[in-house]
Amino acid sequence: MLQHSFVLDALETTGADTFSHFEVLIEEHRELGDSPQPSRLQQLVPTIGTFHTHLPLRDAFMIYNEKHRLTKRKHIQISFNEIRHILNLAQIMALRQEKDGESPHDMMKSSRMGSGNGQAWDDDVDVTDTEDGAPVTQLNGPRLISFDGDQTLYSDGANFEENPKLANYLYLLLRHGVFIAVVTAAGYDYNVEKYEFRLSGLLKYFQKRGLTPAECERFYLFGGECNYLLRLGSDYHLHPVPEDGPGGWCNATKLLEDAPANWPESDIKALLDVAETNAKETVAELNLRGRVLRKRRSVGLVPRPDQEITRESLDETILRVHERLRNMREGQGPGLPYCAFNGGTDAWVDVGNKRVGVQVLQTFLGVETAKTLHIGDQFLNTGNDYAARACAPCIWIINPKETTYILKSILRLAGVPFALPAPGTVPASPVDFKEVERRSVAAAKMDVYSGELISKQQNQP
Ligand code: IMP
Ligand code: MG
Repeated sequence: MLQHSFVLDALETTGADTFSHFEVLIEEHRELGDSPQPSRLQQLVPTIGTFHTHLPLRDAFMIYNEKHRLTKRKHIQISFNEIRHILNLAQIMALRQEKDGESPHDMMKSSRMGSGNGQAWDDDVDVTDTEDGAPVTQLNGPRLISFDGDQTLYSDGANFEENPKLANYLYLLLRHGVFIAVVTAAGYDYNVEKYEFRLSGLLKYFQKRGLTPAECERFYLFGGECNYLLRLGSDYHLHPVPEDGPGGWCNATKLLEDAPANWPESDIKALLDVAETNAKETVAELNLRGRVLRKRRSVGLVPRPDQEITRESLDETILRVHERLRNMREGQGPGLPYCAFNGGTDAWVDVGNKRVGVQVLQTFLGVETAKTLHIGDQFLNTGNDYAARACAPCIWIINPKETTYILKSILRLAGVPFALPAPGTVPASPVDFKEVERRSVAAAKMDVYSGELISKQQNQP
């Protein structure tokens, strides 16, 4: 529809109406729910997923167009990435309650909240901490934001080391009553130090900014998609959340049909056996420079040191294992939720997936679907964020810079001031991220696949 208008040079007059039409199609689709009758949208896009909220696409398009002037272009039409940005903007606008006198257009304008307008740090934020540290004003936006790790919070295979802006926005969200959860496929059992290693800069930042104990407790990490739940303590370290007993996370989520609490050990073993056989046979048959890792809840095909496996070979490995898993138990599948995905440099089969991870968090923390947001980079059907679409509104980003921009927009729409202080008054970042990086690299390096720490000496030839 947009292409048609572009070719006719009519986007200026028809662009917004086209987005209104998409809104109508989406509403129709939402109203039909589980009805066997396909919506018009479903007829156009058979693989269409669930829309957990309405999407103000017209408004989002107008705000985006005001800034980027898409409709003025004569030679380059609106691209896939720009549509992705418009959808992302509409999604975060939908999670905010409309209030009198606060139009999203005004809230998004940088002059009110942007830097250089004299607003100091966030100490001017209209929030008073109560005795237990709970803020008086809850953010007007999502209540739970789950984040993918690699390529969303930090670059693929790297650690959270040099992003003071992103750290500041995460800090502000925690202060404003939002639960933050890193839901990552990276699974190192309950070996806390391995997860902390990857988040070291962020945890140091929280400490320097003096997050209160109640604010710390709103920060979670789910490792291995939905297998190992950790929470930040008042000592700024991650701690396993007990699985069983009163308050145990497995215990509290037993009623979710395919939650980890209900997985028989024999089914886990059968699924991992199939994945391991597939990975080994594919390595041999395609002559791949990879090795196969088996963990308690996952099997990975990872490159040998200083080698690479091509995207094509990783995709082939994944599509093969999909077929094998589907064929298990005479075509009934493995009977457990799983995720078989191409991680960019590696391929994994995890028991469980991010849908289960986010659902467990929603249940455990008491947050409804329409107040949750999942932010990730892997939304193709061979990616591992794809599964989260089933239980939460999602934001598709392509790098940590886009994540940073999304969080800035969420804070802006909620009216939270976050300008950096005037130069020279307060250090721009209370943590010297470069120094943290230098120290951690000097001390040790971690093999992100296995979680093994490789000391500096071992690294040297
Ligand atoms: P995510 O993007 O944060 O979900 O992390 C995915 C990456 O974690 C993969 O591409 C792997 O490099 C790494 N990883 C480490 N251990 C595991 C595991 O047990 N399962 C899946 N991915 C793992
Ligand atoms: Mg990722």
